[in-house]
Amino acid sequence: MSSLFYLNKYLAKYKWLLILGIICLLVSNIFGVEMPGVVKDAVNDIFSYGQTEENTIADKFSLALIAAGLYFLFSLLKGIFLFFTRQTIIMMSRKIEYDLKNEIYQQYQDLSFNFYKKNSTGDLMNRISEDVSKVRMYLGPGIMYTINLVFLFILVIYKMVKTNPELTLYVLLPLPLMSLLIYFVSSILNKRSEDVQRQQSFLSTIVQESFSGIRVIKSHVKEKEAEKRFNREAEQYKNFSMKLATTNAFFMPTIILLIGISTILTIYIGSLHAQSKLIEPGEIAEFVIYVNMLTWPFASVGWVTSIIQRAAASQKRINEFLSVETEIETDKGDELDFNEAIEFDNLGITYENSGVTALKNINLSVKKGTTLGIIGKTGSGKSSLAYLLMRLIDPTTGCIKIDGKDLKDINLTHWRKYIGYVPQEHFLFSDTIKNNILFGVDAEEISDEQLYQAAKDAGIHTTIEEFPEGYETMLGERGINLSGGQKQRISIARALIKNPDILVLDDCLSAVDNETEEHILEAISKDLKQKTSIIISHRISSIKYADNIIVLDDGKLIESGTHAELMKLNGAYREIYRKQELQSENKQNEA
Ligand SMILES: Nc1ncnc2c1ncn2[C@@H]1O[C@H](COP(=O)(O)OP(=O)(O)OP(=O)(O)O)[C@@H](O)[C@H]1O
Ligand SMILES: [Mg+2]
Repeated sequence: MSSLFYLNKYLAKYKWLLILGIICLLVSNIFGVEMPGVVKDAVNDIFSYGQTEENTIADKFSLALIAAGLYFLFSLLKGIFLFFTRQTIIMMSRKIEYDLKNEIYQQYQDLSFNFYKKNSTGDLMNRISEDVSKVRMYLGPGIMYTINLVFLFILVIYKMVKTNPELTLYVLLPLPLMSLLIYFVSSILNKRSEDVQRQQSFLSTIVQESFSGIRVIKSHVKEKEAEKRFNREAEQYKNFSMKLATTNAFFMPTIILLIGISTILTIYIGSLHAQSKLIEPGEIAEFVIYVNMLTWPFASVGWVTSIIQRAAASQKRINEFLSVETEIETDKGDELDFNEAIEFDNLGITYENSGVTALKNINLSVKKGTTLGIIGKTGSGKSSLAYLLMRLIDPTTGCIKIDGKDLKDINLTHWRKYIGYVPQEHFLFSDTIKNNILFGVDAEEISDEQLYQAAKDAGIHTTIEEFPEGYETMLGERGINLSGGQKQRISIARALIKNPDILVLDDCLSAVDNETEEHILEAISKDLKQKTSIIISHRISSIKYADNIIVLDDGKLIESGTHAELMKLNGAYREIYRKQELQSENKQNEA
C-alpha cells in the first residue's frame, strides 16, 4: 500500500480538481438521500387516504404531483453533481496518468545502455502501459468510490437512525457478510482475468514472432508446427476465458440475490413493526430504497479493494524503475575542449551481466587529426572500445582521457554531439529516408545540398534517387525494406551530416562489396584526413591507410603500427592479411 504514497505529489498537484470533485460528490449524495424521504411522505399520504374527513381526491392528486416534482428535482440535482464529480475526479486521474507516463518515459531516456541490457523490452513496455493504467484505476474509480461510500454511508445511516433506529440495526446486519462474499468472488474474478491477460500477451508475442520470423519459418517448412503451437496456446486462452465467463456469470446473480434478501428482511421486519403501529408504511418504503442505495457501494468495496491492491503492486514495480539511478549523467561536467589527443589509459571493461572481460589494459593514444584502424577476430572487444568511447558504458578499470582530462568529467551531451558514430547494429526508424539521415541534426540548419553531399559520400545518393519518392521514401514496417548494405550506408550518411570532428565507424562497411567499400572510403577520405577517425573493421582493406592500426585479440592489444610496419612484423596482422588475400583470389578465380 505504501507504494501508492508516491502518487501523493500528483494528488497535491491537482488538489483543486480533487477537492472540487469531493465537494460535488458530497452535494450529489446529499440530494440523493433526500429522495427516499419524498417517497415516504407520498406513501404515507396514500395510506392515510380516507382515514380523515378533510382529504379530497383533488388534494391527494396535488400532493402526489408535488412529491413527483420534488423527486424529479432531487434526482436531477443529484445527476448534475454526479456529472461534475466525474468531470473532476476522473479527469484528474487522466491528467496524472499522462504525467506519470511522461515521468517514466523521461526516466527511460535518462537510463544508461547497461540498464537496457538488464531489462527486457516487454517488461519496459508493460511499466508504461499496463502498470500505469492499473494505477489510474486507483486514482479515478478507486478514490471516487471509496469517498462515495464514506459519504453515502454516513448520510444514509444518519437518515435511517433518525427515522427508525431499531429497523436500521436489522437491515444493516447482512451488509458486512455481503461485502465479504463479494470480496471473495471478485478476487477469484481478478485472478482469472489475470490468467486471461497473461495468456493473451503470450499469444500476441507468438504471433508477432511468427510474423517477423516468417522467412525462417517458411524456409524451414515449419508452417504446420507454427500453426500447431498457435492452436495450443489459443486453446489455453479459450479455457481461461471460459473460466472467467463462468465466474462472471455468478457475480451479478449473487449480488442481486443478496440485495433481494436485504429487501425482504426490511419488509418483513418492517411489517411486523407496522402491525403494532411502531412504524408507518411510508417508512418501510423509505428503508427499502435506502437498503438498495447502500448495497451497490457496499458491493463495490470488494471490487475497490482489489483495484487498490493491484494498483499498489503496479506502483511498486513503477517505483522500482523510477528509483534506479542513472550511472551516466549527460548534463554534468565541463565543456569539451579537444585539441591534442584521445588517450586510453590502462582501459578495461568487464560486463556485469555476462562476466565477460571484453578489454584488458588497453594503452593507446590517438592524436587529433589522425586515423586509427582497429582489427581483430569476432568477440575481441572492438565494439566495446567504441561503446566506451561514446560513454555508453563506463570502464571497470582505467580511463579515457581527452587532452588529459577524464571523459567522466566532460559534459556528455557536448561530447556525443561532437562525435559521428556509426554503430555496428544500425537502426533505422519507420520514417522517411531524409528524416532518418537528418536524425542527429537540426533539420532546419541543413540545406538540401548538404543532405545530398552526405548521401553521396556514403555512396547511397544514386540508390535513393532511383526510388520513386526519392528522399521522401518511407522506411520500416509500412515502408520499403532496404538491403543490409543500403541500411549501413544510410547510417553512415547520418553520421557524416553531423560534420563531426571525430568519426567512429564500427564495422559499418561489412555488408557492402569491396568495390563499394573502396568508393565510400575514397569519398570520405578527405573527411577522414581532416577529422580524427576510428575505423573498426574485419577487413584489412578498410583500415590499411590508417595512420595507426591496432590488432585486438581476446580483449588485449597484441600488435600496433602502420600497415607496412605490421606487415613487416609478420604476426597476427600479416596472418589476417594472408587469409583475406587468399579469399579474394579464390573469389576472382571463381568469377
Ligand atoms: N552488452 C554486453 N553485455 C555483456 N557482454 C557483452 C556485451 N557486449 C559485448 N559483450 C561481450 O564482450 C565481448 C566482446 O564483444 P564485442 O562486441 O566488443 O566484440 P567485437 O570485437 O566487436 O566483435 P564483432 O567483430 O563480432 O563485432 C564478447 O565476448 C561479448 O559477448
Ligand atoms: Mg563488434
